[in-house]
Amino acid sequence: MIDFLGDWKRTHYCGALRAADIGRDVLLMGWALRRRDHGGLIFIDLRDREGLAQIVFDPDNCPEAHAKAEVVRNEFVVAVRGKVIPRPEGTVNPNLPTGEVEIAVTECRILNRSKPLPFTLDGYVDVAENLRLKHRYLDLRRPVLQQNMILRSKVSQYTRRYLTDNGFLEIETPFLTKSTPEGARDFLVPSRVHKGEFYALPQSPQIFKQILMVSGFDRYFQVVRCFRDEDLRADRQPEFTQIDCEMSFIDQDDIIGVMEGLIAGVFSEAKGVEVTLPVERMTYAEAIRRFGVDNPDLRFGLELVELTDLVKGSGFKVFADVAANGGVIRGLNVKGCARFSRKELDELTQFVAIYGAKGLAYVKMTAEGWQSPITKFFTEAEVAAMNDAFGAQEGDLLLFVADKPKVVNDSLGKLRNHLAALLNLVEKESYRFVWITDFPLLEWDEEGKRWSAVHHPFTAPLDEDLEFVESDPGRCRAKAYDLVLNGNEIGGGSIRIHQEKVQALMFRMLGLSDEESRSKFGFLLDALEYGTPPHGGIAFGMDRLIMLLTGSDSIRDVIAFPKTQRASCLMSEAPSPVDTKQLRELGLRLNPKE
Ligand code: AMO
Ligand code: AMP
Repeated sequence: MIDFLGDWKRTHYCGALRAADIGRDVLLMGWALRRRDHGGLIFIDLRDREGLAQIVFDPDNCPEAHAKAEVVRNEFVVAVRGKVIPRPEGTVNPNLPTGEVEIAVTECRILNRSKPLPFTLDGYVDVAENLRLKHRYLDLRRPVLQQNMILRSKVSQYTRRYLTDNGFLEIETPFLTKSTPEGARDFLVPSRVHKGEFYALPQSPQIFKQILMVSGFDRYFQVVRCFRDEDLRADRQPEFTQIDCEMSFIDQDDIIGVMEGLIAGVFSEAKGVEVTLPVERMTYAEAIRRFGVDNPDLRFGLELVELTDLVKGSGFKVFADVAANGGVIRGLNVKGCARFSRKELDELTQFVAIYGAKGLAYVKMTAEGWQSPITKFFTEAEVAAMNDAFGAQEGDLLLFVADKPKVVNDSLGKLRNHLAALLNLVEKESYRFVWITDFPLLEWDEEGKRWSAVHHPFTAPLDEDLEFVESDPGRCRAKAYDLVLNGNEIGGGSIRIHQEKVQALMFRMLGLSDEESRSKFGFLLDALEYGTPPHGGIAFGMDRLIMLLTGSDSIRDVIAFPKTQRASCLMSEAPSPVDTKQLRELGLRLNPKE
């Protein structure tokens, strides 16, 4: 028998009750988490989004309510009237915010039943993620996910407040649009009215926000969904949310100043963590030289050591050949790890192979000096010079990779993070921010045999590098910047090209014919000709930010209805086949062979 809600009104959230409420008459509503029968007395943990409260049914005081409690099962929806009382001595639960009190129930209404659950909501039990995703409505009842969503809401509210207070206007840009320039694959939407034509879902509002600057809105923001059809990883989703901003009449320092204020505010508001401003800055070149990657984790040392000049003339053919062919030799000094076994060293070698390294030479520093298969190839002076470069001491493990710079930097940069995790070098609950600046403007795409934009084609070169864009594209740096937190890129942006001529040059460098650039971005090129102010902006990955704020391992844990690694929603079963009729309306026919 299900009761009606009737005229009952909730007075408190279950999770909000404290010792100060003792003596209060309350009316609570929530889900029954656990029911315990103690020979007469029945205890139920009643849960809502704020937490849980223990409600007690005494058969002597309220036989009717007690009879109802007897039929309550897990996840029944229950409303109770009662009085907040102190828990009897010895039964206080210090681990629970409501642990000093319980509610002596006087009346009870069962508002709904629940089937037995496919998995327990008890936080301590591991449940397969696919099952959780299929029943996401249940999964989302778990306190961890509720807390994540509450924090997410706080962050987006704070963001709106901060940006509005700083003169930004919230303006929406279209989802049904043309292909945008972020470089991933587009999700396409077929047009019924224009058969054979497609909208693209935006990979970001990039072009529209620049056009809003042309229109004079001056400061724009949006908390906005972006869509990218790319291979998914733990920190990527096919649809994700950006905090997207653009400003006019500003330079890089202005943007960095406003935006680090935003991030510091978010951390203070949501986490109680005070970020020291200004945030440290590091050029791309320095990040690569010291850490091998453009998203360095600064919570630990283990920096890369440059050895090319020291070994290029050595008798070790592997190193000498690599150096002679324009490659580099770099290393890591893993302090105190000379104890690593053969097996552990093999694992490290396999790890760097993922990034293309053909080997991982090693040296163990013993009391007698180098112990290594490669000792014999080096003179005493060479060994001494390398020890010096490494700052090597007895007990250390020296690792070397020789290859093209990209392979060496990638493999040692990733190995550095891998070792830090393995050796517990990372201080938990510490937040190290760094702005990476002066990215390269263009990079050579070996496969496509052409230059491609490192950030996107609208990013401006540094003023002093503009003259080299055509003659020496590889040396040009961009007015682009990323904000990195603990080794994660949480945001990136740039000062844009605001002169049509420079934009056209950039497209030429990217191998786009005038026709191609017109058909892709013609509306932006047109707009740029009508009085475009100097402008620039940034976008933060909101999901990644929340992931770091909550310490979640997966981006899926901070999104209410996420997709799997294979880009499907297990709850709604999207994507799914459609009727032939629907296809016909769109002028589409499937290729039956695929
Ligand atoms: P960018 O492509 O660097 O820049 O994206 C900005 C930030 O968005 C986040 N992000 C993602 N998060 C989750 N899943 C994904 N698939 C995903 N892809 C990106 C990252 C990233 O730092 N229009 C430019 C910004 C600008 O120049 O103003 C842009 O989109 O945290
Ligand atoms: P080899 O002479 O091929 O037996 O290699 C001797 C040592 O050098 C082994 O420990 C290899 O892992 C290592 N090695 C081989 N190629 C490279 C390379 N490109 N970079 C670093 N170490 C290498």
